[in-house]
Amino acid sequence: MDQAIIKQLVKVFVKNFSLLLTESGLYPPHHPNVVAQTHQTLAALKEAFNILPEIYLDILEGQFAYEGIPLYEIKHIVEKVAQMLESKAIKCICFKIGLSPQNLSLFVQMLSDKIKHLNAEGLQSELGKANIASIIVEKKRDKKEDNKHTLLEANKVYGGSIEANKLIYSAIQAGKVLPLDVVDKVAQDITSLIAQDSCSSLALAALRSYDEYTFTHSTNVAILSVALATTVIEDPLLLNRLARAAILHDIGKTKIPLKILNKPDKLNPDEWQLMQQHPLLGAQILEQQATMDELSIIIASQHHMKYDLSGYPRIQHLAPLHPLSLIVNICDIYDAITSRRPYKNSLPCDKALAFMMRLIGCDFDPAFFKIFVQMMGVYPPGSLVRLNTREFAITKRARPTALLLPQVKIIIDASGQLLADPLLIDLSDNEQNNTGRNIEEVVEPSTIGIDPLDFI
Ligand SMILES: [Fe+2]
Ligand SMILES: [Fe+2]
Repeated sequence: MDQAIIKQLVKVFVKNFSLLLTESGLYPPHHPNVVAQTHQTLAALKEAFNILPEIYLDILEGQFAYEGIPLYEIKHIVEKVAQMLESKAIKCICFKIGLSPQNLSLFVQMLSDKIKHLNAEGLQSELGKANIASIIVEKKRDKKEDNKHTLLEANKVYGGSIEANKLIYSAIQAGKVLPLDVVDKVAQDITSLIAQDSCSSLALAALRSYDEYTFTHSTNVAILSVALATTVIEDPLLLNRLARAAILHDIGKTKIPLKILNKPDKLNPDEWQLMQQHPLLGAQILEQQATMDELSIIIASQHHMKYDLSGYPRIQHLAPLHPLSLIVNICDIYDAITSRRPYKNSLPCDKALAFMMRLIGCDFDPAFFKIFVQMMGVYPPGSLVRLNTREFAITKRARPTALLLPQVKIIIDASGQLLADPLLIDLSDNEQNNTGRNIEEVVEPSTIGIDPLDFI
């Protein structure tokens, strides 16, 4: 069954269910508005149950979501109800086939009960007492458990993306058709992961292994680009298309000999000229596919052109670049210079941003670069830093209004002891940070023998 049809049925149900909860908050159970809306909701459920045995509705950051993807299109209609459910610590509601009108009404009354104010646990217990098995309410995990779950998810998506990139590259190298279904699955996973928790995703992008640059680079550029684009784009389909394009942006490198790609020394003029062909080679590969999104072709050809068009390939007419090419351009360079390669060491994130700042207006679009810095902070999520107190911390979340003072997790105290219970503090918050802690420098994790992934 087409996923788009399923999603449409779920959206109709969510809209009706939200309306039912709104009406029930205003009128008693037997009021004609409530009765009519109960019928509408059941009709929508019946349609959905024709193809699904159960519907899991997630509540993510104050929004309804299905299969991990927020239902952006109906956000404005159902947002208040989603927030009300979130305030009851509900993480997920499962509706199962066989749900009777009476049981749906009872559940809605439980949710609307202004005296008992039942939370997720209370609701599930009441459902049990009423022998209602066709509705299950799952409570939100506590923060610690939730972080662990998201990181596991993030790791899974990241690992899946690396494997998919290997498959994509080997297919092209063997002259086979691009496995577009694989690309699209990864693109969708990355988009929904960022919708759930962009900080964990950004941290993963910062902590990739150094061995598989070709594959980690595409994944990182996709993560960074989608995270940056979500600040200006709400359309999930466009975000998916951007993720796909970012995954494929360097596909032209499959046509460049490995001895040039991995050469430890500076490329000679002939080799450099060949290397500069990878954007157009990539666009050609993508054009040759039976079905290919125009955006992927545009981004593959434009990602090295630079904001002022002084990059490569040089174009004759000075048409402006596609705005999403400008986003990929920033993320591509950031990942390239913060990665260790056979021919160069990596730049620490703060030095990389300082270096890139000098190229604003020439290499990089000023408006997107500003948002990029606000998103990453000077010390992006996942960086290991040493504080002025001699403590070590992992940066967790950037603060757009205080770029030098992110939220951090202190993992090693001033005496060098690993903390059993790391301390989460916001360096920009004077109450939490009442001892004037600040960041002195970024530290390479291997120099003190820790893996930041264990602490995110
Ligand atoms: Fe490239
Ligand atoms: Fe690249």
